[in-house]
Amino acid sequence: MPLAHLYKRVSAHVTPAEWPLIVRDVEAIEALKRQRNAVVLGHNYQAPEIFNTVADIVGDSLALAREAVTVDADVIVMAGVHFMAETAKLLNPSKTVLMPDMEAGCSLAESITAEDVRLMRARYPGVPVVTYVNTSAAVKAESDYCCTSGNAVKVVRAVAKEWGVNRILMLPDEYLAQNVQKEVPELELIAWKGHCEVHERFTPTDIRDLRESHPGVVVLAHPECPPEVVEAADFAGSTAAMADYVGDHKPARVVLITECSMADNVAVSHPEVEFVRPCNLCPHMRRITLPNIRRALETMTHQVEIDPLVADRARLAVERMLAIR
Ligand code: 13P
Ligand code: SF4
Repeated sequence: MPLAHLYKRVSAHVTPAEWPLIVRDVEAIEALKRQRNAVVLGHNYQAPEIFNTVADIVGDSLALAREAVTVDADVIVMAGVHFMAETAKLLNPSKTVLMPDMEAGCSLAESITAEDVRLMRARYPGVPVVTYVNTSAAVKAESDYCCTSGNAVKVVRAVAKEWGVNRILMLPDEYLAQNVQKEVPELELIAWKGHCEVHERFTPTDIRDLRESHPGVVVLAHPECPPEVVEAADFAGSTAAMADYVGDHKPARVVLITECSMADNVAVSHPEVEFVRPCNLCPHMRRITLPNIRRALETMTHQVEIDPLVADRARLAVERMLAIR
């Protein structure tokens, strides 16, 4: 079987009959990567046949942003959603950043505009603005700092200290803000009404049912879930933090309350762990496929461009976040 070492990683999801088609795309993408001096960044939610084959660097949004700074390539292909490609472009203005499908958006990024942020600033003068990385560059440009689910607590603490304030506008994910608020009772986080269309669907009843039907299951939840869901879980963290939890604790049985391709990808490295798999898919992440990654590299489209005036201000918010360790 061609590329048998890769097939082993995806065999739970790809039949031997489907594999030759996938191999054709994988081999073409590898050749194009060499020809273009390109790398593929893959988010943890990418489909197993992308995550385990052509993705050179995988991780959560924070890791992908950090890697985007150090990557040694002329071309970056984002196997993720549009805001991730914009973040990569902000940090690499001279590189070509390709999005295999420009329609791969995010309900959180859609929930707020630059004008909304300006209105919030006018309503809360002097209050610093921390925006989730799941936003457009235009929204980032109106912000003081960015954060991700992996560093949100650290960022709001650092901002409060640096600015000498105890109120922070934390936009646009209402649930992330409420979950972070529990960790920083000394601060007042003012939220927006944005929600992730994938994580908002989980309920505390889902968690109770999962615990009843799968005794002993360890429940890990993403902080984009409603606070009642996070409270019902055993641990909450970014996609990378959940993957690390599985690696560090090796629970006999686990459920990841998040986008469901994540469990497929983490399970590959932990065959001894039983993954219970409720399935909520992110329709935006699913828009990325091997054929459109291949087409992106063949045609050098779609190139992500950001108005330089917006980019300079947005970059500052991302760089301030990256400087917080
Ligand atoms: P992470 O930063 O945890 O990878 O999350 C990104 C995301 O879009 C979750 O829905
Ligand atoms: Fe956006 Fe939710 Fe999809 Fe993540 S899972 S990219 S937050 S819509």
